[in-house]
Formats: sequence, C-alpha cells, structure tokens
Amino acid sequence: MKKYNQIVFPLIIGLIISLSACQQAGKNSTGSEYIPDMAHGVAFEANLYSYYYQNTWGTESEKHKMSSPRMPVNGSRPRSQATDALAMANKGMSSHQGISIPVNGSVPYYYANTEEDRLRAMAEIINNPYPITTAGLAKGKELYDIFCGICHGEKADGAGYLVRDGGKYPVQPANFLLDEHVQATNGRYYHAIFHGRNLMGNYKDKLSYEERWQVIHYIRSLQAGSKNLVYSEKENTFRTVEIPAEVLKAKAESEKAISAVTTKENQ
Ligand code: HEC
Repeated sequence: MKKYNQIVFPLIIGLIISLSACQQAGKNSTGSEYIPDMAHGVAFEANLYSYYYQNTWGTESEKHKMSSPRMPVNGSRPRSQATDALAMANKGMSSHQGISIPVNGSVPYYYANTEEDRLRAMAEIINNPYPITTAGLAKGKELYDIFCGICHGEKADGAGYLVRDGGKYPVQPANFLLDEHVQATNGRYYHAIFHGRNLMGNYKDKLSYEERWQVIHYIRSLQAGSKNLVYSEKENTFRTVEIPAEVLKAKAESEKAISAVTTKENQ
C-alpha cells in the first residue's frame, strides 16, 4: 500500500500541475477557454485579421478575405469632398442628408500612376492652392516629421534616420535641398505624395488634400531656410508662386478700397 501511494501521489500531483499549467493565461495565450467564442469573437473586424482555428464560421482564407480592406465601390466620392452648393452655403460643413462632415477640400486627382502623367503633373501643377500661414507651416512640420522626415531627413537633406542610422533603408531618398528639387514644380511633390515613386510608397490615404499641400509648403520653407531666404506668412523671398497670407490679405483690402472709390466715382 505504501509503495502504491509512492507512485500514485506524485502522478496525481504531476497531473494537477500539468493541467493547471495549460490553463494559465499567459502573455500570448488565453489559457483554457470554456467557450472559445467568448475570447475569440465571431464577428469580422474591419482591418483586423482575427482568425482562430476553433472558429467554424468560415475557412482561414475566407476569414482573411473578409477582414482585409477593400476598395470602395466604383464612382464613390469621399464625404469630405463637398462639391454641392449646400455645403458651400453651410460655411465649411456639409449637411447633405442631415450628416455634418468637416470639409477637407478633397478634390479628384486626374493624373494616373504612370511616368507620362507624372511629367504632365510636373508641367501643369504650379501653384499651391493654400496661402502660406504660420498655422499651416506648423501643421506641415508635424506631418512632414512623421511621414517624410524619417527618410527625407528633418532638414530635407535626404538623410532621415532610417537611412542615416545603420542604413536600414536600402535606397537613397530624394534630397530636397538639391537644385533639381528646389527648382521642381509643386506638381512633382504632389504627384509623389499621391502615387509614391519606385520604392517610396504613396501617402494619399495618410494625408488629406489640405495636409498634402501644407507638407509641400513646409518642404519649401526648409529649402528657403537652407538658402537663408524667408518663407513665411508675412513674406516669401524664395519663390514667386506661393503667396503669404498677409500679402493676400493686404491685396484683397486694397482691391476693396479701389472698388469702393470707383463705385463712389461712378455714382
Ligand atoms: C520610406 C522612405 C520614404 C518616405 C517615408 C518618404 N519618401 Fe519620398 N522618396 C523616397 C525614395 C527612396 C525616393 C526616391 C525614389 C526614386 O527616385 O526612385 C523618394 C522620392 C521622393 C520625391 C521625388 C520624386 C521624383 O519625382 O523624383 C518626392 C517629391 C518625395 N519623395 C516626397 C515625399 C514626401 C512629401 C513624403 C512624406 C509625405 C515622402 N516622400 C516620404 C523614400 C521615402
């Protein structure tokens, strides 16, 4: 009997330890699950691949397909693309169908991801639709440092930390301080953001229409700074294309004054 206990007790204790070990929840494991559905939802989560082998609601490839982002229906337009008169009348908010959506000025981009259209964009897109403002430059800096600076460098010299520190990134990103990029039209920048270029991916889903243009303003301000020129809300001694907000305001006021004088004269 004593000998029997010596064998059976350790066996039972071993079994308890091993069973409870399996049930322990860990960093990457839920432990034993009473009803697997409770830890692993059966719902398809947008943009989250949550396949679980005990889930019998579809095969792994079906789950993958259902959880992956899909393209919008042909002809869809972003809600923020308020082009109707109603939206304009509502001071920047679209109340179409009773839903208020902040307008970000999104417009369609008619240049395809081909070399031919890249050249066309470079030749045709000259102006920046937004005036230079202090707030826009601050927003541009924030976005540039996050989305572009890691490769193109915080100073726009092509030496972002991904390239500089140990060469983790395999190709040389464009150095915006070189003459070629200083002289490039705004279309070259907009097209690169919208479609990417070779190994550089696109940022059309990361940056809204206005954000793209503020990033371009900020790149211009870095280029101006490297030449000791001014690119600000007050003054632009670097390029003639972009208009500082204060210059625009002064121009509008003087035009108003002139038209007031001429209307008076005509009376
Ligand atoms: C992951 C690294 C990386 C990031 C992040 C990145 N780029 Fe680039 N970019 C590159 C590389 C590499 C090239 C050179 C591509 C080539 O010419 O083959 C390039 C080229 C360019 C060019 C020149 C395209 C041309 O016509 O020659 C522009 C403009 C540009 N990038 C703008 C941007 C902007 C703006 C951002 C941020 C929204 C950005 N890039 C983010 C890697 C990056």
